[in-house]
Amino acid sequence: MAKHGDRSSRMQEPKGTGVAEMQVAFPPDGAPRTPDGLGFLREASLFRLDIHADARAIPLPHESVDLVVTSPPYWKKRDYGFVGQIGQEETPEGFVGALLCALRDWRRVLTRYGSVFLNIGDTYHNKALAAIPGRVEAAAATNGWILRNRIIWTKIGGMPEPAANRLANRHEYILHLAATHEYFSDVQGYAERFGNGSNPGDVWHIPLRRNMGTHLAPFPDELVERAILLACPNAVCSKCGKPRRRLIERTAELDPARPQARRAMQLAAEKGLTPAHIAAIQATGISDAGKAMQVQSGSGKNSAEVKRLAAEAKLALGGYFREFTFARKRTAGWSDCGCGAVFRPGIVLDPFQGTGTTARISNMLGRSAVGVDLVLPTRREGWQGGVLDVGDDQRTCRSDNPSGSSLSPRVAKA
Ligand SMILES: C[S@@+](CC[C@H](N)C(=O)[O-])C[C@H]1O[C@@H](n2cnc3c(N)ncnc32)[C@H](O)[C@@H]1O
Repeated sequence: MAKHGDRSSRMQEPKGTGVAEMQVAFPPDGAPRTPDGLGFLREASLFRLDIHADARAIPLPHESVDLVVTSPPYWKKRDYGFVGQIGQEETPEGFVGALLCALRDWRRVLTRYGSVFLNIGDTYHNKALAAIPGRVEAAAATNGWILRNRIIWTKIGGMPEPAANRLANRHEYILHLAATHEYFSDVQGYAERFGNGSNPGDVWHIPLRRNMGTHLAPFPDELVERAILLACPNAVCSKCGKPRRRLIERTAELDPARPQARRAMQLAAEKGLTPAHIAAIQATGISDAGKAMQVQSGSGKNSAEVKRLAAEAKLALGGYFREFTFARKRTAGWSDCGCGAVFRPGIVLDPFQGTGTTARISNMLGRSAVGVDLVLPTRREGWQGGVLDVGDDQRTCRSDNPSGSSLSPRVAKA
């Protein structure tokens, strides 16, 4: 085992003894399968595991990872020049078929609380956009995935483009796909880092990474950090597999950076409004429909007293009453499944791991990491991992992807 050496001052350091880098070998006897010796996936220590395998047949047990964050090769962009690569299919349909095949296997390895952040860009082919992100979205939805967000990554500082009669391409998509509505989400934790306490938007302004000396197109650290904070639990019960979820309570505090909020607080003080008035505003919301259960009557409607207080407060505040309907929230604690077993860190999988950005950031944020790639880590440009061993795999999932249809088993040494 080796210690993981790469650190970022901005991010939380993993606690404990450091990151264990796993050395695992799998017999080339077909896939998918549940290999022996992967018990550590359910244990409490932080690890990083690198696997030499196809993104469509990952040799991991069912329901063993908590989040997928990945960026596949884009259609007809870089030809990596190896058998089994995704991205060089003849048609957009072939490419989408290959990705669907991969998504099917990711659903198998994800827990019921898991989801996928898929960074995908479009391609100009014969001078027309191939509409790849839209095709992937539609195909994923048809195959049962729930599209929770279509995040737009605006690329600050993109390369100049030669075309004179169209605009330069300055954005890509990050599709957030969930398999079930039980998927883990921590918008509050994300907002504390990337927002102002309220629900931040679905446009991410993130600069491109520069001077990597690599053609692998590594995605930015911040993109991975955002996805992990949004959807990878910090702690998961090693017995029942339930993530600990943040318990949130509303406060009466407003954001003093907003002039409207400052005025609302001033008016509330001047007119002598009480915490009960503020709670009544939050219970009734902008309309008079009941929202906060703790101040509702047993009928599910706001009690007459709550309605009276809300009406009084609205009269005192005028239009500024709205400010109190999006007052700050705070963490009141964390859910506990009650098993009494140890909690393990969440596990992030990147099935197209390239230089290893996802694993590096996952470990920095205290999450374990599994990275998969068809190219041996030591042969990847810009590789940022440590000492590795590799396994063998054989792709079994078939799609109309012509370039990936005949991957043969291989035994490879790092
Ligand atoms: C765009 S790069 C990923 C870059 C990565 N996000 C990073 O930050 O470095 C795509 C990777 O997918 C790998 N790849 C291509 N086809 C694959 C397949 N069928 N299975 C697994 N990996 C594959 C390539 O070797 C390449 O490393």
